[in-house]
Amino acid sequence: DKAGHKHFMSKEIAEQPTVISEAINFYLTNDGKDIALPGEGIDFKSLNRLTMVACGTAYYACMTAKYWFEQLAGMPVEVDIASEFRYRQPPVTDGTAALFVSQSGETADTLAALRYCAGKADQILSVVNVPESSIARESNLALPIHAGAEIGVASTKAFTCQLTVLLLLALKAAHMRGKLDDDALTDLLSKLRGLPATLNNAMAIEESVQGVSQSLSKVKDVLFLGRGMMYPLAHEGALKLKEISYIHAEAYASGELKHGPIALIDEKMPVVVLAPRDALFDKTISNMQEVMARGGKIILLTDQAGADEVSEDVWQTIIMPEIDPVLSPILYALPAQLLAYHTAVAKGTDVDQPRNLAKSVTVE
Ligand code: F6R
Repeated sequence: DKAGHKHFMSKEIAEQPTVISEAINFYLTNDGKDIALPGEGIDFKSLNRLTMVACGTAYYACMTAKYWFEQLAGMPVEVDIASEFRYRQPPVTDGTAALFVSQSGETADTLAALRYCAGKADQILSVVNVPESSIARESNLALPIHAGAEIGVASTKAFTCQLTVLLLLALKAAHMRGKLDDDALTDLLSKLRGLPATLNNAMAIEESVQGVSQSLSKVKDVLFLGRGMMYPLAHEGALKLKEISYIHAEAYASGELKHGPIALIDEKMPVVVLAPRDALFDKTISNMQEVMARGGKIILLTDQAGADEVSEDVWQTIIMPEIDPVLSPILYALPAQLLAYHTAVAKGTDVDQPRNLAKSVTVE
């Protein structure tokens, strides 16, 4: 049932404020001041490393979480795509927790990576949408994301719910490891509780995204740029666009631009720049100006404060609500998803069942 939407993908994008708030409520204690993990929880003080493994969109959720675990909890983190991790024979040292992220819980490479770590890692953790899945069953602790059934092949609400649960885990780790005191934790949790409402307000960008998408549907290549936590989001935006609109899209860390991809810049390849007005904003904007100086057309995703600081030469600007930088990846998933969705609709592709793709990849 598409609940009045044209596609499951659009319904699932719209559901995000609701399902994210369900995920938050599942993990918060009644007073809203702490995070209660199911079962015996996780003793983050006894761990010295986190290894996160996944495929596709779930991998980009892990990439984002690396910034949270490192910055908030001071924990060394490595992230890897499952198909590489499983055959590389990576050493799994004492004090390592291995964490697998999977919507379906059945992805063959992710499951094989989990089995490789079993007996080697101190803990096998998973973040899953299907609690009865193989990956959940073979973990010491499976953390549900509460996204509800996701029908569209392109993952949307599962991604933002994965991010929400991973952020809660990073906050728990930071608190347990003494990097975040009670007040700071309470403050971030209260901001997180406000996120579903902010995301709901952000739905107002849909009309301007639709306009931009009309133009995007006519191009052959798109580049996505981001820095810090916007770098994994750039990847997610590029993946969504490729999957459902069949437009070639690539993501780069903004700082890598001049190490190669700037050679591609011309007026035919729009460049999507993800740049909330955070500590790295000026750096990203200077990369954006390098693109503009070479005739590149910019689609800037930023907030009002960011938009006020840049020149009017930007081709298209999409204004997002202001948000604490820690929460920005969850919010900026929305324009990435909507750009892909409306571009695909404008092209007339099969949004919910893109060619050559399956919802669950149970063979390698
Ligand atoms: C992208 C997408 C895929 C999946 C990947 C992992 O929109 O849906 O990249 O994210 O196949 O699937 P799960 O999360 O089921 O392990």
